Amino acid sequence: MLRIVKDNVKSLRKKSIPVEMPISEKDRKTLEEMVDYLVKSQDEEYCTKHKIRGGVGLAAPQIGVNKRMFAVYYPKSETEFVKYGLVNPKIIQNSVRKVAIQSGEGCLSVDEDKKGYVYRYAKIVMTGFDILTNKEVTITANGYDAIVLQHEYDHLDGILYYDRIDKSNPFKEIDNSYLI
Ligand code: NI
Repeated sequence: MLRIVKDNVKSLRKKSIPVEMPISEKDRKTLEEMVDYLVKSQDEEYCTKHKIRGGVGLAAPQIGVNKRMFAVYYPKSETEFVKYGLVNPKIIQNSVRKVAIQSGEGCLSVDEDKKGYVYRYAKIVMTGFDILTNKEVTITANGYDAIVLQHEYDHLDGILYYDRIDKSNPFKEIDNSYLI
């Protein structure tokens, strides 16, 4: 069982280093374990039994590994899943328009949810090496999908979602943005 690093730990605030490619067996195994953790975390019974929270994304610094890789896993529809084990991700394009989740974001490293709008690019194009397909991938993501990828990407730079909430006005509305 992976141990999740909480936001009172300094290493979570560090900028992570690129993963050496081709990926080593050790790094691959770590990332596989992270994907696995997310899959299991979405089983309610498993969560209760192991006292863990459900998550849709997990970045390596959150398990104490300061390397640029993260896992994402969540249902997209009744039959489809979004599932990646991304290595050295890069955001190569972004919209000017922003998006935020009305009810706010959450994070496995942050025990108490911080309320407020976390504005992120509404559309991004991200590249990276996906260990699940063993391919360089180019992902075009909108809305929620774009938010999840940017949340995880931020972890690689030591940024937490609440850093992006306006302290004096957490529910501030901004131009050229929408809420989901
Ligand atoms: Ni997080």
